[in-house]
Amino acid sequence: MALPQLLTVALLAAPVPVLSVDGFADVIPAPVSAVPSGADFHLDRNTVIQTRTPAVGNQLAADISAETGLALPVTPSAAPAGRKISLKIAGGLGDGYKLVVNRNSVEVTATTPAGLFDGTQTLLQLREGRAIAGGTIEDRPRFTYRGSHLDLARHFHTPDEVKKYIDEIRRLKINYLHLHLSDDQGWRIQIDGWPRLTEIGGAAGTGVDGVGGGFLTKAEYADLVAYAAARFVTIVPEIDMPGHVNAAQVAYPELTCDGVAPPPRTDTAVGYSSLCISSETTYRFVEDVIRELAAITPGPYIHIGGDEAHATPPADYVAFQNRVIPLVAKYGKTAYGWHEIAQSPAAYSSVAQNWGMSRSNPVLAGAVANGMRVVMSPANKAYLDMKYDRNTPLGLTWAGLIEVRTAYDWDPGTHLTGVPESAVLGVEAALWSETLRNIDHIEYMAFPRLAAIAELGWSPASSHDWEAFRSRLAAYGPQWTARGVDFYPSPQISW
Ligand code: ACM
Repeated sequence: MALPQLLTVALLAAPVPVLSVDGFADVIPAPVSAVPSGADFHLDRNTVIQTRTPAVGNQLAADISAETGLALPVTPSAAPAGRKISLKIAGGLGDGYKLVVNRNSVEVTATTPAGLFDGTQTLLQLREGRAIAGGTIEDRPRFTYRGSHLDLARHFHTPDEVKKYIDEIRRLKINYLHLHLSDDQGWRIQIDGWPRLTEIGGAAGTGVDGVGGGFLTKAEYADLVAYAAARFVTIVPEIDMPGHVNAAQVAYPELTCDGVAPPPRTDTAVGYSSLCISSETTYRFVEDVIRELAAITPGPYIHIGGDEAHATPPADYVAFQNRVIPLVAKYGKTAYGWHEIAQSPAAYSSVAQNWGMSRSNPVLAGAVANGMRVVMSPANKAYLDMKYDRNTPLGLTWAGLIEVRTAYDWDPGTHLTGVPESAVLGVEAALWSETLRNIDHIEYMAFPRLAAIAELGWSPASSHDWEAFRSRLAAYGPQWTARGVDFYPSPQISW
């Protein structure tokens, strides 16, 4: 029996790395409370994930396997005496979670599966090698909507690229991905009743500057929706109208008032196209698109665009929205649109996405007084396609230069006069693709700024602190590096 005893002694004596207690709260977005204990948990081959929520348990096991090579079993039953990670549903935690890490167990408790998933995203951030930093975190989101927007119209991004992006955004507790699927240049989602939309509008050469093309088939879209849902991200599809419709009119000239097809356009001008507001064909088209999109979208929102409709006379614009917004409700969804839709009384029951740069928008404030809710995406703070500084090789500048601190230093709950925090559903970072052609471009512009927007959406306003944020961001950098994310190494951060 001497040998096993010797082995046991050797194992006990092996040096066990202890994670820094200081690093315990290096989580993004900042949790509501984090108390380190120094009692780290060490993953090993005998660790079990015990849960009756396999959707969360299996995803955590897959992540741990990808990051450490350990294949942890996921089991619903009480684990034997070995060390375990337990993921439990229990009442009283709202949409938040509680995470307790000590030497022998990790326990995540939440009231909803989404809360449990959020807890596991924190857990993943506490991991360093096979050690998980010890302590207790209690956490809940400030806002229910934490969005990221991606433009597939100006340049198409493939399903695999979108999936890689989803893999990153969910780690920051982003829970909505808004896909901009149509614009003047191209049309990126299959619509069975109007097949030329993608035959022509998704053809090669329909990206900006005639570069790229492509579209999502319904099967690809459904697969993306499922992939996102498995990571507790809800897809919000957008069809932009009544402006930004040149690609649709190239494919179907009957969507213009004179019936003449306009030339295809792959420049980046905006505001020149409009659906024909007085034509019944327009509403047949719009209803078909909304019906088909609603049928493949389990999430609550259909985004109907509505921005920059400079070629639509104002009265026509309101008439159009008054007819189209009820169509979204007819197919069981909530209408969501850029803030211009607030001009229409029909929009008061819907959600406006504020992309304005002003701190005041009386039309939107008036709609809010009538019940409208708002997602905050001010272009001069939350448009991640803006350059970081004058030397950024990608991106645009019309809303300004947006370094990390600019993206971080604002408050969605007080940003717009007459839009109280109670009317704010959350935040969304927009990423337009005029200059972005591939996933490296997307990552370079999104990260690290998306972390700032994610924190504004999740963390309590009282925790807002640039110095603390930039220190946590520096600690997060190696995670992006390890996953091959091409983030911008902002000089504002001590990486
Ligand atoms: C927008 O940036 N036109 C919504």
